Amino acid sequence: MDELEALVVDAPARVAAAADLEALKEVEAGLVGRKSIVGDLRRSLGSLPPEERPVVGARVQAAAETLNALLAERRVVLELEAENHLLEQDRVDVTLPHVRLREGTTHLLTSTLDEVADIFAALGYRVASGPEVETAYYNFDALNTPATHPARAESDTLYVDFGDPSDEMLLRTHTSPMQARYMETHAPPVYVVVPGRTFRSDTLDPTHSPVFHQIEGLAVDSSITFADLKGTLHHFAREFFGEGRQIKLIPHFFPFTEPSAEMHVSCFACDGSGCRVCSKSGWIELMGCGMVDPNVFEAVDYDPSAVSGFAFGVGAERLAMVRHGITHIRHFYENDLRVLRQFT
Ligand code: PHE
Repeated sequence: MDELEALVVDAPARVAAAADLEALKEVEAGLVGRKSIVGDLRRSLGSLPPEERPVVGARVQAAAETLNALLAERRVVLELEAENHLLEQDRVDVTLPHVRLREGTTHLLTSTLDEVADIFAALGYRVASGPEVETAYYNFDALNTPATHPARAESDTLYVDFGDPSDEMLLRTHTSPMQARYMETHAPPVYVVVPGRTFRSDTLDPTHSPVFHQIEGLAVDSSITFADLKGTLHHFAREFFGEGRQIKLIPHFFPFTEPSAEMHVSCFACDGSGCRVCSKSGWIELMGCGMVDPNVFEAVDYDPSAVSGFAFGVGAERLAMVRHGITHIRHFYENDLRVLRQFT
């Protein structure tokens, strides 16, 4: 019992010395655990003479309650400390400056292709795309362009050697092969535009690049006339370059259209009076176009006496260059951010 008294006297210091919950558990075992004096006394109660049992039992119980109260009080404090420690470790410093990522934007060429496609989609045209590596058949033959045509020369066209192909393969020189591909797989009426990448054996200069982009247009129905072509292109010119644009169609030649024309638009910068943008002519040459040649209809198994149509092909780089005053075609491909960021 003396040891018990001493234990109770020592207890506050021992409990206070427990630095964390782990240490407190050990202190607890030493004070009230099975192997502590309290534990020993509780176990020995049964061997005491019956008259002493209540007295000793009450004192052991009172001591145990005192000790447990001390332990509980300390536990609350240590638990709070442990919690605070965890929170401290998990702390996020919200005052750190964040890394600002610049949002990407659509490349000017992509947005130009999209814009043209949108103008025609609003007229009910579908948008399609075709292969960039094409057979000579679709690039030339189906388009009424015979083997003797100069455009088929190696000096103009980039051929691809796949070993022993059944047909000549090449990087398509225009988006027109999709005229034939689309008509082969769709019955008339057809209203479609085809944006895409095209390739020619050209040396890079301010207005030429071996890789460039076009948008093909094709309309085939039971009674399409040249007036429809003219009205459609006039609408396009006003949508793309603004109200008041005039167009003119100058006779030209393409093997796959008859008659064929070159479409010019009145200069949006000077309204036709002549300036730097239009090389003083008042007009900007924009695209090739014409009425689909009957031979093309035959090649895709359309009946030339039952349908008629028009087609056009416009260069995307050219559209963007005249509109934005871009003076060299290489600006589209060099991806200089100082250039790209001007068109966001
Ligand atoms: N494919 C022709 C070119 O690249 C343009 C064109 C398309 C002409 C459709 C007429 C009809 O020059």
